[in-house]
Amino acid sequence: MKVVVDEETCIGCGTCVGLCPEVFELGSDGKAYITEDYREDDSFEGEVPEDIECTKQGAENCPVDAISVE
Ligand code: F3S
Repeated sequence: MKVVVDEETCIGCGTCVGLCPEVFELGSDGKAYITEDYREDDSFEGEVPEDIECTKQGAENCPVDAISVE
């Protein structure tokens, strides 16, 4: 599945990182990045295997809805 973090919207609360550190990490600018394993063109976009279910939990629990999963 495709995962995109909206860097403008992310406030760096870290909820996604706590719920799904396999997919999300906090970058040096305090924004959520996709981890290197799944990252695509830039740090904010990635392709994640469907069976990593915490991806959706991270997206659903982001307080500002900065993560989209398709
Ligand atoms: Fe940012 Fe939301 Fe994660 S604010 S750090 S994308 S939970």
